[in-house]
Amino acid sequence: MKLKGRDIISLKDFSREEIDHVLKMAQAMEPLAESRSNMLHGRILATLFFEPSTRTRLSFESAMHRLGGTSIGFAEAGIASVKKGENLADTIRVVENYADVIVVRHPLEGAARLAAEFANVPIINGGSGAEEHPTQALLDLYTVVKERGTIDGLNIALVGDLRYGRTVHSLAYALSLYDVNLILVSPSMLRMRREVLDAIEEKIRVAEKATLDEIIDDVDVLYVTRIQKERFPEPAEYAKVRGSYQVDLKLLERAKQSMIILHPLPRVDEIAVEVDDTHHARYFQQVWNGIVTRMAILSMVLGKNG
Ligand code: NCD
Repeated sequence: MKLKGRDIISLKDFSREEIDHVLKMAQAMEPLAESRSNMLHGRILATLFFEPSTRTRLSFESAMHRLGGTSIGFAEAGIASVKKGENLADTIRVVENYADVIVVRHPLEGAARLAAEFANVPIINGGSGAEEHPTQALLDLYTVVKERGTIDGLNIALVGDLRYGRTVHSLAYALSLYDVNLILVSPSMLRMRREVLDAIEEKIRVAEKATLDEIIDDVDVLYVTRIQKERFPEPAEYAKVRGSYQVDLKLLERAKQSMIILHPLPRVDEIAVEVDDTHHARYFQQVWNGIVTRMAILSMVLGKNG
């Protein structure tokens, strides 16, 4: 299966076979992530981040360096020519001369797709507004497979800001290709977007719930997200839902022993710090899994692997 030259914009564009293949390649990257490799020697990654990021940008750079490649880019649009009024299409047409692959994070939905239309090198979506974050979802799936051995047959709950959270949109599209029970838990204001529900409801069993209490004893994977404060049109709207759900030790008393908790990070208050030391917590392991998943993605789109 070839992903050479492919843009990674939305998981809607992926088949189950392609996702499974990326997950297999990620596993093959585990030893190389430790020992380092020269697979992408001489290759250049550009990271164009028009929005704040810690993990996604550093994780892509770390992945590139572990494979012997180099990276360039900016982490703040305020210091780039965008500040002078350059549009995204022009920025992309310039940067593709400097790099073999480009990761773009942008506050506007559709931005990564637009970039891909202008670029002759592969574009990877590092987060397009509230729309999608496909590489985060791939590393989430890799974590599930690594921890549970399978995705099929699991009860998976997506919790929190399902309206503005882009990682849960990508994850929902991907999970609809597997045999899972999907449970969506959110305050009513932050329910899963209609367009995502429409796309997944005919493929898998989906239930919408308002509280964690109703579902906790049945869940195999609890995927918790932060309320995306910065995407709310009005601060007063955010105030209404702030602190409306939290995973704590009391709630976990009723969870299955084998249940795992994932979170794309950053966390605010939706998982109490006391949960970090339980055997359920896997959100810091996800960070490592992000490196190997992105090593797989970079090597594949650059035609060096799989
Ligand atoms: C997520 C994002 O940027 O969408 N973070 C990440 O990439 N790990 C989640 C978030 O910001 O809440």
